[in-house]
Amino acid sequence: MAESVISVRKLVKRYGDLVAVRGIDFDVMRGEVFSMLGPNGAGKTTTVEILECLKSKTSGEVSVLGLDIDQRVREIKKRIGVLPQDFNAFDLLTVKENIEFFGKMFSDHIPADDLIALVDLESKRDEYFKNLSGGLKQRVGVAISMVNDPDIIFLDEPTTGLDPKARREVWEVIKGLKAKGKTIILTTHYMEEAELLADTVAIISKGKIIAMGSPVELVENNAKYQIVTLQSVDEIVFETVRKIGFEPVLSDEKTSESGWSTRKMCNGY
Ligand SMILES: Nc1ncnc2c1ncn2[C@@H]1O[C@H](COP(=O)(O)OP(=O)(O)OP(=O)(O)O)[C@@H](O)[C@H]1O
Ligand SMILES: [Mg+2]
Repeated sequence: MAESVISVRKLVKRYGDLVAVRGIDFDVMRGEVFSMLGPNGAGKTTTVEILECLKSKTSGEVSVLGLDIDQRVREIKKRIGVLPQDFNAFDLLTVKENIEFFGKMFSDHIPADDLIALVDLESKRDEYFKNLSGGLKQRVGVAISMVNDPDIIFLDEPTTGLDPKARREVWEVIKGLKAKGKTIILTTHYMEEAELLADTVAIISKGKIIAMGSPVELVENNAKYQIVTLQSVDEIVFETVRKIGFEPVLSDEKTSESGWSTRKMCNGY
């Protein structure tokens, strides 16, 4: 049976009059990618920073790796890794020097060269951090989050602001961590990122979890309609799709010489 490594019950966080987290409940299972998906100000960072023992909660019960977050901070911190939302390293240290610097904070740490290989940065090993692109900086951040060989890794918006290619490269690194058996908490604004990487997605809005489940369950339970894109199809395929309830999204799409080429079809609005 799957083992819960994070348990959150009735978690509330207030900042003065503002209630940023409004009584949320969830479990994260060992080895899964658990994604918190939500817009700006939804309460994602607040929630993960409480789990990381960086912020105190107002009320509720939270345990990480079976340890109470108020009582066992030092033990928890030894066994988790964190890539903060506003991650930055030392501009005038190289990739390797930065990773070594953070490694020294832990008595047991993974050799910098192993981490550099893990995030595929061998060619940038001796480059100053300040000279790296945004995507490469985030990969250094992932390497640093792994220095203590943690059981659980928190990645707070690791791909925000990256171009599509850099984003895909970070996704590959995250898939690699999952393949190593790590449990990953991933916050994101991007539906496609959660869908691609996550086993469980919690959609968070205004401090509440408004839907939670596997990406497939969420689409089945919440999507009002589906859109399919047909590429290089002829009239017969188009008519077949029409018979099962799909209509063209744009009525003015043209037929190419060889029949219908690319078309978006939707089964209801
Ligand atoms: N230290 C703080 N003091 C007061 N209010 C705060 C503090 N930190 C966050 N907030 C507020 O709490 C709410 C939730 O913020 P949080 O940073 O958790 O959201 P988020 O989902 O991470 O957003 P984003 O996607 O922009 O990172 C917001 O209204 C924010 O302004
Ligand atoms: Mg945030």
